[in-house]
Amino acid sequence: MELSIKDMEDEAKKYGKFIKELGELKESAPEIFGVATGTKLDELFYYVEFDEKTQKFKKKILGGIPYRSVLNIVGIADTGKSVFAEQFAVYQAAHGYKVLFVTVESPAEFLYSSLKQKAYALNVDFDKVEENIIVVDASKSYQFRENVMSVIKTMEAAIKKKHCTVTVIDSVTGFYEHREVMARQIVRALFNFLKQHKQTALFVSQKRSSQQAESAEAAGGLAVAHIVDGTIILDKKLIETRFDQSLYGLPIGSVLRTIRIDGCRLSAHDSDTWVMEITDKGLIKIKEKLSDVIKKQKTK
Ligand SMILES: Nc1ncnc2c1ncn2[C@@H]1O[C@H](COP(=O)(O)OP(=O)(O)OP(=O)(O)O)[C@@H](O)[C@H]1O
Ligand SMILES: [Mg+2]
Repeated sequence: MELSIKDMEDEAKKYGKFIKELGELKESAPEIFGVATGTKLDELFYYVEFDEKTQKFKKKILGGIPYRSVLNIVGIADTGKSVFAEQFAVYQAAHGYKVLFVTVESPAEFLYSSLKQKAYALNVDFDKVEENIIVVDASKSYQFRENVMSVIKTMEAAIKKKHCTVTVIDSVTGFYEHREVMARQIVRALFNFLKQHKQTALFVSQKRSSQQAESAEAAGGLAVAHIVDGTIILDKKLIETRFDQSLYGLPIGSVLRTIRIDGCRLSAHDSDTWVMEITDKGLIKIKEKLSDVIKKQKTK
């Protein structure tokens, strides 16, 4: 259908609000700083600053995940996604920030116990954590979970009530469990909502058994990875052979856990695979680069 000049003018009027001079965006551009997770991941995001004195670029650690980013934590079962997301929530709450935790897998009362344990493990004041975290429990009602608009409305009420700046959803996969074709639409709606409310957020995404463990792909395909600002991949490997044993220096039957920032469009970042541990107290501890572990083994 061909548009007349008048039609085009009408369209331009209707959508004129979508046109911006670059300079107009100055005020609304987000500041660049890190929102701490309380793990070594905070040192793996960085930015580059120009030093007028030396006339050189300097690499500076961000100190957290980028402010106002929405990141996806991806991994097969039992790789520490929930541990990571909960640790982040507790760490932020303990430092006075208001956190919305949307629990989709674990019923809220189980989440409570888990967050309490994390607070003790991190040696932070649980009263403060209790005061600063608000929970939306989407685990119990299938009807609620299936209607993402009602979930978003509820999240909005919670964010407004508490003035939250941080949101965790564990997991987004729960919103499209039996209808993965809807993943793109649902994740886009959640993403836009979080951006609108200026949240720094973590999504947890589960993998399907056919998806490669070390890729950014999760339930719903690559759609989720394309929408979010970045992906963090958690993985684990069972040490099964003598080759693995000598490569990684670990006994047969043990588990090697890894973490890697797969990509982030809001900030520069380390792209290595790091070895991590889930401690006895249930905390994520990122230790050293996998390549360094292997190098050390070779020289032994
Ligand atoms: N409090 C704890 N103490 C010790 N180990 C723990 C604790 N919490 C979790 N772990 C270890 O971390 C593993 C990963 O747990 P987590 O629940 O984070 O996995 P997940 O990636 O969220 O898995 P899923 O996709 O099934 O939800 C557990 O199987 C357990 O071995
Ligand atoms: Mg989990």
